[in-house]
Amino acid sequence: MLPTLSDRDVLAELLAFHLEAGVDVALGEAPVDRFEESANERAAIRARAPAGPPPAGAAPGAPSRAPIARPSTSPALPAARGPVAGPAIASPGAAPLPPDIAAVEAREAAASAPTLEALRELLERFEGCPLKHTATRLVFADGNPKARLMLVGEAPGRDEDIEGKPFVGRSGKLLDRMLAAIGINREAAYIANVVPWRPPGNRTPTPQETAICLPFIRRQIELADPDILVCLGGPSAQTLLGIKDGITKARGRWMDYDTGTRTIPALATFHPAYLLRTPLGKRMAWRDMLAIESRLKTLPATPNV
Ligand code: URA
Repeated sequence: MLPTLSDRDVLAELLAFHLEAGVDVALGEAPVDRFEESANERAAIRARAPAGPPPAGAAPGAPSRAPIARPSTSPALPAARGPVAGPAIASPGAAPLPPDIAAVEAREAAASAPTLEALRELLERFEGCPLKHTATRLVFADGNPKARLMLVGEAPGRDEDIEGKPFVGRSGKLLDRMLAAIGINREAAYIANVVPWRPPGNRTPTPQETAICLPFIRRQIELADPDILVCLGGPSAQTLLGIKDGITKARGRWMDYDTGTRTIPALATFHPAYLLRTPLGKRMAWRDMLAIESRLKTLPATPNV
């Protein structure tokens, strides 16, 4: 006779399945049936839709998105998106935006933010990046937005997702020690990530997710207006500095970064998570920290109002 699985075994198997699939944090107390949610959404759309043939090119029963609201100064969207009003944010629960449209929306939304606080609020309401729906919360920035030094990583991990601040886990602790070695603490640095939501299971963000988030981090850098930008790790350097080289080749070389209003020196260095795995790299990282220290000393400080 086949052994029967106890509830405990079933639960253990389910947990193991979720862990293998990269699920390592619970987002809510109760499970959510997304299939039922989208079926209800489709039914509601059908109920609202006027009788008559579907528009040319529309799949039968295809859900339509709520109109995207946008700032009055932004150029018009393709006509198919419908009328717009209010801030540049899609309604939550609507079907996901195609990545290219989401990237256009991100550009317009980011450009419309006059301050870092406004940018954070826009991101809180931005529905164009699917990572938002699997992350616990937005991880916008930590440190001092008026600091002369800005550091940008790739994307938050589990600890950052829980706390809502970048670089607070093991690699963050190492980053703090690296900065402390050149006399810098979080009051003298501003820290953010290219992607402000944790990818599930800490996977690498997809190129589409990165492209959607890119206008926001660019605007964040422009608004923070640091004197020096440091890219932590290859993905951050490749995304922000537009280089193809891996981090071993790219690190330690000063490059120019155009903030949109001025050109500032930028340096790529090893990501602290890499240094935790590869302590040999710390010698090179130390050189990079010294280069940052000396550049901060020689570079005239820009008045940051
Ligand atoms: N790694 C990153 O790139 N960013 C964080 O905030 C944490 C770990």
